[in-house]
Amino acid sequence: MVTFIAMLTFTGVAFAQNNNDAAIEAKISNLIKKMTLEEKVTVLHANSIFKTGGISRLGIPGLSMDDGPLGVREELSAGGGWTPANLTTDSATFFPNGSALAATWNPSLAYRYGVALGEEARARGKDVILAPAINITRIPIGGRTYEYLSEDPFLNTQLAVNAIKGIQTQNVAACVKHFALNNQETNRGTVNVEVSERALREIYFPAFKASIENANSWSIMSAYNKVRGEYCSENDYLLNKILRGEWGFKGIVISDWGGTHSTVAAANNGLDVEMGSRPPYDSYYFAKPLLDSVKAGKVSEKTIDDKVRRILWVLYKTSLSKSMAKGSLNTPAHSQTVYDIASESIVLLKNDKHLLPLNTAGIKTIAVIGDNATRTNHSGGFGAGVKAKYEITPLQGLQNALGKKVQINFAQGYRAKLNDDDPSLITEAVNTAKNSDVAILFIGGNRDYESESRDRKDLSLPFGEQALVDAVTAANANTIVVVIGGAPYDINKIKKDNHTIVWSWFNGSEGGHALADVLTGKINPSGKLPFTFPVALDESPAFYLHTFPGDNLTAVYKEGILVGYRWYDTKNIAPLYPFGYGLSYTNFNYSGLKTDKKTYNINDNITITTMVKNTGKRAGKETVELYIGKPNSAVERAEKELKAFKKVMVPAGKEVMVTLSVPVKSLAYYDEGKSKWVVEAGKYNLMVGKSSRDIEAKETISIDGGN
Ligand code: BGC
Repeated sequence: MVTFIAMLTFTGVAFAQNNNDAAIEAKISNLIKKMTLEEKVTVLHANSIFKTGGISRLGIPGLSMDDGPLGVREELSAGGGWTPANLTTDSATFFPNGSALAATWNPSLAYRYGVALGEEARARGKDVILAPAINITRIPIGGRTYEYLSEDPFLNTQLAVNAIKGIQTQNVAACVKHFALNNQETNRGTVNVEVSERALREIYFPAFKASIENANSWSIMSAYNKVRGEYCSENDYLLNKILRGEWGFKGIVISDWGGTHSTVAAANNGLDVEMGSRPPYDSYYFAKPLLDSVKAGKVSEKTIDDKVRRILWVLYKTSLSKSMAKGSLNTPAHSQTVYDIASESIVLLKNDKHLLPLNTAGIKTIAVIGDNATRTNHSGGFGAGVKAKYEITPLQGLQNALGKKVQINFAQGYRAKLNDDDPSLITEAVNTAKNSDVAILFIGGNRDYESESRDRKDLSLPFGEQALVDAVTAANANTIVVVIGGAPYDINKIKKDNHTIVWSWFNGSEGGHALADVLTGKINPSGKLPFTFPVALDESPAFYLHTFPGDNLTAVYKEGILVGYRWYDTKNIAPLYPFGYGLSYTNFNYSGLKTDKKTYNINDNITITTMVKNTGKRAGKETVELYIGKPNSAVERAEKELKAFKKVMVPAGKEVMVTLSVPVKSLAYYDEGKSKWVVEAGKYNLMVGKSSRDIEAKETISIDGGN
C-alpha cells in the first residue's frame, strides 16, 4: 500500500493582501505629490487598445496589458484598431482553453499554466495579463464556456487561485475577469442580472473572493453587464462594498473594453482604469470628462489619488519592480506544460468495446475523418486568441505517433460552414472508413462556432456532423468518435449508437500530440468533465425556468443556488454525462471510507480517508471527489456540493490512501436574513465518488452546535 501525501506546497504559501512595503509606499506618496491633476488623469485610461498613459517626466510607465487566457495575444499595429502588427517576434504558446484546464482537476497544472503564461507575458513586456476568466458556466450554450472553467465554485476556486499565484510569480499582474455575473454573451453589454444574495455568495463570488483573499490578484476586470440595475464598472456594491470593503482588494479595477458608461458614477463607485478599443482616447469618460468632474467637485482629488496609488502599487510589482523576472517565450518547458495540461484534460466518455487504447500492432490503416482533425484553434471567431508559434493538430499528432507504422487516410468529412452540407464529403468519408481498419472521427465545435459576444443557439452538433457520424459508424464497426469543443453538445445519439467516445478541447500547441498519446495508450486518460452535459437544453435550470436570455433585458437567476449538477441532483433529472465524469483505461475500486471523528465543532477540520485500488493492468490517475449534503436543512440545499477533491496516480494493481480535508466552516450556507454564513448543527452526508453521479461510498457525520 502506498500512502499519498498532498504535496501542493505552493498552495500553502500565504499571499495576504499586504501593502506594508514602507519604502515603496513612500515612493508612491512622493510621486503622487509631484503629479499634476492632468497627469493623474492620464494614467487612469487607455491611450491605445492595450496600454494606459504614463508620465515620462516622472519615470512612470503606462501599464502594458494583453489577453489571456489562451496565451499572450499578438501585437497590434501602431496605427490603431485591431489590425495585427505582423511582427515576427510575437508568436507565443497556445495554452489549453479554460474548460480543458478545469477538466484536469489538477491545481498544480493550473499553477504551472500560470507560471508559463506569466513568463510569456513578461518576455513580451506585459504588466497585466487579462486572465484567468472564471465566470461560472451557468448556461450550457454560453459563448465563452470554453474560456471559463466550471459550473462548480469549489473547482473554479482551486484552479483560479493557483493560476493567479503562478502568473504573479513573474512580475505580471493577473487580471481575473469578469466581475461579476457575465454568464451569458447575449445582450452582455446591456443585460441586468438579478440574483439572490445567497447565490452570489455561494456560487458566483467564491472564486473571485479567493482570487483576492488567497491569491492576491493585483487586478480584476469589471464585467460588461449590469448587476442589480448598475453597470459592473460603476457598481458601488460590487466594487466598493464587496471587493474593497469585504475582501480588502488593494489592486486596480480595470473596465472591460468599452464597458465604461459614466464618469462620476464609475469614478466614485470603484473603477480605476478605463479601457477600450475605440479612439479618441482623450475623450474617454476617464480622460477629459474626469478632469472636468474633479474641477467641478463631483469627484474628489482624494478619490483620484487612491486610484493612482493603486496603479503605482501594481507598477511597483510589475515593470517598476527591482527584482524583475526575466520571462521566456515558446520554451520547451512551456511546450511540456501545455502537453501535460492537454494530456490530463482529455475525457474518455465511453469505451465499451475496449477499442482504446488502440492496439496498433494489429492495425494497418486508420481513417482520420473530419474538419476538426486538421483545424487549429489558437485563434478564430470573436475573442482573444494567440498567434501560436505552432499548434499540433489531431491529424499531425497521429501522423507523428503512428505514421511510420500505420497508413493514415484522411477525409474531410464535413466543411465547417453552417448550412453547407455536402453529401460527396460523406461519401468520400464512408469509402475511406470502409477501406481502413479503424475510423477516427473528429467532430464538434471550433473557435468560430464557440465565440465571445454570442451564445450558441442550441446544443446540436453543427455542420451536418451527426449525419457524418451515422454514415461512418455504419461503414466501419471500429469507429471512434472524438468530439472537440469547449462546452457541452448534444451527443445523445452518439452516446446511444457508438461504443467509443473521447472528449477533447481547444487543447493548445501540443493538443494533437496529447490526443494521439491518449488514443494510443501512452497516456492513460484522467480528465473529468468540469460541467454537466444535459440530455436536453430545456432541462437545464436557466432554460427550464425561462430565465435566458431574460425579459426586457433583465435576467433573473430564478434557479438561485441550483446551478449545474446542484440542479440535476436536487431535482432528480438525469444528465447525459454528469459533472466530474471521466473514464480511464484501468479501473479503480474505492473502499474503507473513514472520517477521523464522528462529531465535529465549528472550528474543526474533517479529515476523510479512502482507499483507492487500481484493479487493472495499467497505471492511472484518479480524481477522488468528495461531496457533502445536509439533509433536513432549515433552508433549501443542493443534494450535494463538491467540498474537496484530489488527483492521485495509482500504479497498476496497487492501492493508495487518499486523504481529504474539509473545514467545517465550508459547510455553511449564506443566511440572507442575518447577512452571514451559518453552519447548521446536525447530520451531514459525506459522499466519495468518481463523479457527481457515481458515488462509491457514504458516511454520516455530525456537527455539534453550529453557529
Ligand atoms: C473581453 C475581455 C478581453 C477584452 C480585451 C473584451 O471584449 O470581454 O475578456 O480581455 O475584450 O480583448
